[in-house]
Amino acid sequence: MSKKILSALFGAGLAALTMSPAAFAADETLSDFHTEMGGCESCHDEGSPSADGAYEFEQCQSCHGGLDEMNDVHKPHDGNLMCADCHAPHDMNVGQEPTCDSCHDDDRTAASVLK
Ligand code: HEC
Ligand code: HEC
Ligand code: HEC
Ligand code: HEC
Repeated sequence: MSKKILSALFGAGLAALTMSPAAFAADETLSDFHTEMGGCESCHDEGSPSADGAYEFEQCQSCHGGLDEMNDVHKPHDGNLMCADCHAPHDMNVGQEPTCDSCHDDDRTAASVLK
C-alpha cells in the first residue's frame, strides 16, 4: 500500500482500517465512500469536475498507483483507459465489479483474464 493510501485511511479514522473492503457499505457509491475519507477535493480540483477527467485520473493514480502497477485486468489498459472508464465513481457502488462487454464483445470477464 502506498503512503498516501495509508494516510487517507488514517485520516478516515481507525474504523476504515478495521473493516475489510467487503464490509464497506455496499449500497454506497465509490464517490461517497471517498468523499467521507477526503472530501470532493480528494478527486476534484477545488471540488469541481474537470472537463476531460485527466485531473481526477491523476488523483486516483497518486493513491492507488498506475494501471501498469496493478493486476492483469488493469495492465492491458495502461495508456488506453482512465480508472473512471471502468470504475464510474458516481454511478458504481463500493465492491461493484466493472464489466467488460461495454467495450469487448467476446464475453471476456475479469475472472477469465485473471485465471
Ligand atoms: C473517487 C473520486 C471522486 C470523488 C471523491 C468525487 N468525484 Fe465527482 N467525479 C469523479 C469523476 C472521475 C468524474 C467524471 C470526471 C470527468 O469526466 O470530468 C466526476 C464527475 C462529477 C461531476 C460531473 C457530473 C457527473 O456526475 O458526471 C460532478 C458535478 C461531480 N463529480 C461532483 C462531485 C462532488 C460535489 C463530490 C463530493 C461530494 C464529488 N464529485 C466527489 C470522481 C469523484
Ligand atoms: C478495464 C476496466 C478497469 C480499469 C480501467 C480499472 N479497473 Fe480497477 N478493477 C477492474 C475490475 C474488473 C476489478 C475487479 C477484479 C480485480 O480485483 O482485479 C477491479 C478492481 C479494482 C480494485 C480492487 C477492489 C477490491 O478491493 O477488490 C481497485 C482498488 C481498483 N480496481 C482501482 C482502480 C484504479 C485506481 C484504476 C485506475 C488506475 C482502475 N482500477 C482501472 C476494472 C478496471
Ligand atoms: C486520497 C487517496 C485516494 C484517491 C484520490 C482515490 N482513492 Fe480509491 N481508495 C482509497 C482508499 C484509502 C481506499 C480503501 C482501501 C482500498 O480499498 O484500497 C480506496 C478504495 C477504492 C476502491 C475499492 C473499493 C472496494 O470495492 O473495496 C476502488 C475501486 C477505488 N478506490 C477507485 C478509485 C478511483 C477510480 C479513483 C479516482 C477517480 C480513486 N479511487 C481515488 C484512496 C483513494
Ligand atoms: C471502457 C472500455 C473498456 C472496458 C470496459 C474494458 N476494456 Fe479491455 N481494452 C480496452 C481497450 C481500448 C484496449 C486496448 C486496445 C485493444 O488491444 O483492444 C483493451 C485491451 C484489453 C486486453 C489486451 C488486448 C486483448 O484484447 O486481449 C485485455 C486482456 C482486456 N482488455 C481485458 C479486459 C477485461 C477483462 C475487461 C473487463 C473486466 C475489460 N478489458 C474491459 C477497453 C476496455
